[in-house]
Amino acid sequence: MDIVLQILERREPAPRELVEILLDIQDECGHIPQVAMVLVAEHLQIPLIEVFRVASFYKAFALTPRGRHLITVCMGTACHVRGAPRMLDEVLGLLGVEPGQTTEDGLFTVECVNCLGACALGPVVVLDGEYHDHMTAAKLRKLVLAVRETEKEAPAHAEARVCR
Ligand code: FES
Repeated sequence: MDIVLQILERREPAPRELVEILLDIQDECGHIPQVAMVLVAEHLQIPLIEVFRVASFYKAFALTPRGRHLITVCMGTACHVRGAPRMLDEVLGLLGVEPGQTTEDGLFTVECVNCLGACALGPVVVLDGEYHDHMTAAKLRKLVLAVRETEKEAPAHAEARVCR
C-alpha cells in the first residue's frame, strides 16, 4: 500500500478530501482496495463506513479490480432503442463475461450505464475513456478484437497495476 500512503501524504487530512483521495487511488490502483479504505478512514479520521459509502456510491470507483481495458456500454433509453442490447450481447458473448465482470486474463471489464450524456449519438460505447458513437455490434466486436491484438503485440505495456 505504499502508493496509497504516498497519495495520503499529498492530501490534507480533511474529510473534504475524501473524493479526491479516492479518485487518486482509483487512478493508481485501478480500483479501491479494502485496505486502502481503512487507511483513508484513519487519515481523515472518519468512520470506515463513510469511506465505503462514498466508494460504493459513485460509478467512477470500483471495489474490485478492473481489467486493463474498460468497456462501458450505454443501456439508456436512447441507446437501448437503437440497438444497445445487441451490442451488449455481442461483447459479453465475445469475452465470456457478465456485466460488471472482468475477463479471466484481466484484459477487459464490461460495464453498463444508464446514460453517457450523448444520447443523440447513440448507441454509445466508451472504451478506455474514448467515446464511440453510432456503434453497432459488428463495430464493437472489431474494436475489442483490435485491442486484444494490440495486447498480443505489445504485452509489455499490459502490466497489471498493483497497489502494494
Ligand atoms: S441513453 Fe445512451 S448516451 Fe444517453
